[in-house]
Amino acid sequence: MLRLIRYLLIVVILCLGGLWGAAWLWREPDESVADAFVRRVAGFAGPQGTSAPPAPGTVAMPPGVKLGGAFSLVDNTGKNVTEKDFAGRWLVVYFGYSFCPDVCPTELGNIAAAMDELGPQSEKITPVFISVDPERDRPANLNEYVALFHPRLVGLTGSIEQVTEVARRYRVYFRKETRTDNADYLMDHSSFIYLVGPDGMVKTVLRPQSSPETIAGAVRAQLRNL
Ligand code: NI
Repeated sequence: MLRLIRYLLIVVILCLGGLWGAAWLWREPDESVADAFVRRVAGFAGPQGTSAPPAPGTVAMPPGVKLGGAFSLVDNTGKNVTEKDFAGRWLVVYFGYSFCPDVCPTELGNIAAAMDELGPQSEKITPVFISVDPERDRPANLNEYVALFHPRLVGLTGSIEQVTEVARRYRVYFRKETRTDNADYLMDHSSFIYLVGPDGMVKTVLRPQSSPETIAGAVRAQLRNL
């Protein structure tokens, strides 16, 4: 009997530990881990609010998770911008870096093709590329880079602190790959595509390497829901 109680206690502790970990990972930008933990536990106890099923090719966000929000960056023309400069518009946001040898160009190509696929609807969308390599991605080279993909693609960069902060709000992972043999380096980074609503918050997360059709479909699904 005592052994059973001890066993149950260990299970409970492991569950709470897991919830604490989940709370840490998925807490909102300005939320403490403790608050997020309480919300998680409450979420287990009660039913969740009903939300529309995610569009094909998209990632379901855990209930209560909010991505996006405030940022302060520099655009490809050298102008300081914040989320307020994009308020009222739909954005397709991708994080990467212009020196990326393969993944970023492919993803940006897919986003540009999705814009073409959307036709006149694409006028409601601003595609945005946020650099996770602010050391090398300065406005001037970013300006040349974005023009390769789409005439309306906006490139954003900033200080390392500014980029780290916006990446944190979108839960984007990035890390410099250290190399001793060469001055060049690669950035390891997550590769999700974010559909951001007029309020600056992420509405849909698309998997890496989503096809132009999938991206366009997710945009259409959001615009239909208005
Ligand atoms: Ni890349």
